[in-house]
Amino acid sequence: MPEQARGGTETAPHPSYRRVTSFVHQRNRFTEGQAHAWERLWPAYGIDVADVVSGAVAYDPPAWFGRRAPLILEIGSGTGESTAAQAAAAPDTDHLAVEVFEPGLAQLLMRVEDAALTNLRLLRGDAVDLLRERVPPGSLAAVRIFFPDPWPKRRHHKRRLVQPEFVALAATRLAPGGVLHLATDWAHYASEMRAACAGEPLLENTSTSEDGWTVRPAERPETKFERRARSEGRDVRDLLFRRIPLRAP
Ligand SMILES: C[S@@+](CC[C@H](N)C(=O)[O-])C[C@H]1O[C@@H](n2cnc3c(N)ncnc32)[C@H](O)[C@@H]1O
Repeated sequence: MPEQARGGTETAPHPSYRRVTSFVHQRNRFTEGQAHAWERLWPAYGIDVADVVSGAVAYDPPAWFGRRAPLILEIGSGTGESTAAQAAAAPDTDHLAVEVFEPGLAQLLMRVEDAALTNLRLLRGDAVDLLRERVPPGSLAAVRIFFPDPWPKRRHHKRRLVQPEFVALAATRLAPGGVLHLATDWAHYASEMRAACAGEPLLENTSTSEDGWTVRPAERPETKFERRARSEGRDVRDLLFRRIPLRAP
């Protein structure tokens, strides 16, 4: 694999990089509507992470979108409620939604069609593999992770996606000034995320509040998922960290 794709020294995996995945493989049953959408739309909008990682398909967003525009990568787009809304609201940016859950991707395909979105592509597979193996350093305008699986049991915390090693990886992929935007309704996970981001030398918190949280930016729409969390009494925390700009030597 070329050094550029591997990202040179910036992409070298942290010596203790975990390979416990942040998801478990589950049976992906489509509804009839999802199966239809998949059949019709996946060939046009979908790409397999495994193919990109193996090199069978080139990682080439300018070719996928037919233009060069700021590129935003969302990890764990679920059914794509906020993904589609954010892509529609920002037509001058291009969006990659990475998800392992196929019915969710099928749901998002329907949203892409309904809203006639041209600035969104779907990637099926593990976003960590994609980031580490193919996304070039300094190439992303934003990385978004909204409501990642909380893995609430202590023995499962190792499965949480947002941990220091992951934050270090994501930070290298951001362009200077690019943002890592996280949101969760799990208090313990939120504190862990804040600590991981605060400890990453490539990032600075954009929040000036004492506790470090950011008020939900208007561009992150409130989703059904989030409304349920609130109705069950869980506060939602947003974190917005910026990749520090390169300083002149
Ligand atoms: C709790 S859901 C949240 C979905 C969505 N962001 C929302 O706010 O409704 C988390 C999603 O992350 C996906 N996921 C977890 N780890 C992932 C990974 N490493 N790569 C891609 N998707 C992942 C899961 O399949 C799941 O659909």
